[in-house]
Amino acid sequence: MKIAHLGHSTIYLELADNTKIIIDPYIDANLPEMWQTNHLKVDYIILTHGHGDHVAGVFDLIKHQQPTIIAVAEIANFFAKLGQKVHGMNIGGGFDFPFGRVTMTHALHTSSLEYEGQVHYLGNPAGIIIEADGKTFYHAGDTAEFMEMDLLGEDYEIDFACLPIGDNYTMGPKQAARCAKRIQAKKVLPIHYNTFPVIKQDPQKFIDLLTDAKGIVLPFGKIYEI
Ligand code: NI
Ligand code: MN
Repeated sequence: MKIAHLGHSTIYLELADNTKIIIDPYIDANLPEMWQTNHLKVDYIILTHGHGDHVAGVFDLIKHQQPTIIAVAEIANFFAKLGQKVHGMNIGGGFDFPFGRVTMTHALHTSSLEYEGQVHYLGNPAGIIIEADGKTFYHAGDTAEFMEMDLLGEDYEIDFACLPIGDNYTMGPKQAARCAKRIQAKKVLPIHYNTFPVIKQDPQKFIDLLTDAKGIVLPFGKIYEI
C-alpha cells in the first residue's frame, strides 16, 4: 500500500492491484502538476464528511473522469444527483470492494457543504478504515477524541493512521496523541494542521507526545510504502 499526503487531510493511496484512491481532496495549487486534481487519475474518491476543506477537490477530479465516490449515504446521494457514480455507506458498516474492505467509523464532528449558494446538511461525519494489501489504514476524518476509539484498537491492527492535530475544528495534539494510543496504531501521520492560522501546530510536538506509535511527517506528494 503506497500512501501520499497531499496537504491538509488529503491522502492518496495506490494499492498493489493498481487501484488509485483519493481521500478528502482539497486545495492542491502548490503541489507538483501530477498531483493536481485537474490531472490526477483516480478510481475511487472516499469522503469523510461534507465540509469544503474535504470535498472541494472533487469538483475538479470529476471533470475529467468518472471515479466512484464512496461516502456516507447523504453525501453519496448529493453526488448521485450531480450524475456521479457513488457507493453510499453508513457508520458501523463495511463493504468488500474489489480492491479491499472499507468500513465507516464514528467521527465526532459536523457535516455540511455550501454548493451554489445553498447549505446542504450531509448526514453524520465518518472515519474510514481500509483493509487492503494485507494492511489496515485508518483516516480519522475531522473528529474530536472519543472513547470508542478503544474499540478500533481492539478490532483492528492499524498499521497506519491519519489523525487531525490542528485543534479548533478537531482534536489538538494532546488528544490526538491519546487517540494514537487508544487505536494502538503502529504509524501515525498528523493531518489537518497549518492550512489556516487557527489550526497552526508544530507536528514535531505531536510526535514527541506519542508513546507507542511512530509519528511520521511526509513532505506533500512523497510516496511512503507500508
Ligand atoms: Ni470538517
Ligand atoms: Mn476540516
